[in-house]
Amino acid sequence: MNTRDLESPRLRGGMVGLGMIFDETYRPFFESAWRDRIYDPRVGVFGVDLAAVATRTGRRADAYRQAAAGRIGPFASYSEPDSVAGLLGQPLDFVCVATPDDRHFEAAQAVLRAGKHLLVEKPSVLSLAELDQLERLARQHNVLAKVVYHKLLDPDHKKLRTLVVDQHLRHVNNGYCSLLEPKQISGSQFAEWIQGRNPGTYVAVHYIKLIDFSFGGRLTSVACTGQRGLVGPADGNTWDSTQLRLCYQYDGGREAAFDIHTSWVTPDNFPGYVEQEVQFRFDNGVWNGHSRRRGVECTIEGKTPLEFKISMNNHYNGSFVEPDGTRSQRGYGIEVLERFVREVAFVELGGSAEERGQRLEAMRQLTYNDLSSDRQVVAAVQAMEAILARHAEGTPNCIVQVNEAEGGLVLHAPGAAAGELLYEPRV
Ligand SMILES: NC(=O)c1ccc[n+]([C@@H]2O[C@H](COP(=O)([O-])OP(=O)(O)OC[C@H]3O[C@@H](n4cnc5c(N)ncnc54)[C@H](O)[C@@H]3O)[C@@H](O)[C@H]2O)c1
Repeated sequence: MNTRDLESPRLRGGMVGLGMIFDETYRPFFESAWRDRIYDPRVGVFGVDLAAVATRTGRRADAYRQAAAGRIGPFASYSEPDSVAGLLGQPLDFVCVATPDDRHFEAAQAVLRAGKHLLVEKPSVLSLAELDQLERLARQHNVLAKVVYHKLLDPDHKKLRTLVVDQHLRHVNNGYCSLLEPKQISGSQFAEWIQGRNPGTYVAVHYIKLIDFSFGGRLTSVACTGQRGLVGPADGNTWDSTQLRLCYQYDGGREAAFDIHTSWVTPDNFPGYVEQEVQFRFDNGVWNGHSRRRGVECTIEGKTPLEFKISMNNHYNGSFVEPDGTRSQRGYGIEVLERFVREVAFVELGGSAEERGQRLEAMRQLTYNDLSSDRQVVAAVQAMEAILARHAEGTPNCIVQVNEAEGGLVLHAPGAAAGELLYEPRV
């Protein structure tokens, strides 16, 4: 530690889960913030420490500690059982949760109960009841509860939203999104937790949020189909691919529908790797986005597409030799984490203790990442999960209506007279 470190305040962060997304985005964020500190005009210069981590076995934490020697400060490591309780025994300011999606809630709840600011990976949680509980705890303990949706920071998506906000593109009528992951995701990376899971919750959620955040409106219904037989048995509850349909209504009564197709069984050597495509049709325009058409395609014998990707998204997360010769890793996948930490810094370090409440409230108003703005996204995820569960039990093609007379989320099975209440309050 040199003398400049003694002069600036530091925030202490915790990390639950050190998997693929930690390695891609959190690791470079924590390393550069530890090395360079962060300057925010509202706060001044502050440092950030990765002070504690929690993982299932502790092996990844040990490997990271060894590999990152000199690039990160000392951190405590806890493994199961009770890894999160161990981590929360440390004096932390914020905790990031990047465990598999069906294990977010438990960890997130413990973080908020301990009075720490929370950043949770997408999808925040799998049901509105869980979301309500996290929101209650965040208010009760006067901390932030935020979720990571980095696609909102993609310059292309920011441009889309700007054209909508400025009314150059008027009233979206319908659209489609598709995101195809390679087989190695379902076959090896996620083998430990894939049983009973689906690629819709894992990645369609990116587009649910993009649509919800960019176009506004009220979610009115959710439908979903899917296929099985590669990752698990053809009649089981583990899904290869899903096709989700969301319907929305806007002020003035006009409607829109969006289809979101996802898969995690595309061949590992297909050129798109993670291939992403969207098309939105407006009253007066069409927006087309394609991950392979917006950027570069690069082939290197023996290395692409497995070691390096053919379609590189250098905007999301790229490692570079900068023009001045230094090396960096940057992109909107990392920027989204830094924004959250700046928000925490503003609350904790951005002024007098008496005005902390006002700063906290101001940061809660940021709808791009606050959990209070994630209701329709979580509603869509809960509905999709329920529809796929009924499908696996032998009743395909259910539909969930949102905010009808019987309740906030009501599942209707084909031919059944009565709906099944999934969530009673309004969404
Ligand atoms: N923003 C994105 O684009 C993006 C990309 C990939 C994953 N994700 C999200 O990040 C989360 C994690 O995904 P991943 O790809 O890193 O998964 P992963 O399987 O690579 O890693 C999961 C990590 O969680 C840890 N873990 C599992 N159960 C735990 C428990 N009970 N207590 C403590 N630690 C536990 C494991 O030890 C591992 O370190 C998921 O919610 C996923 O949706 C986001």
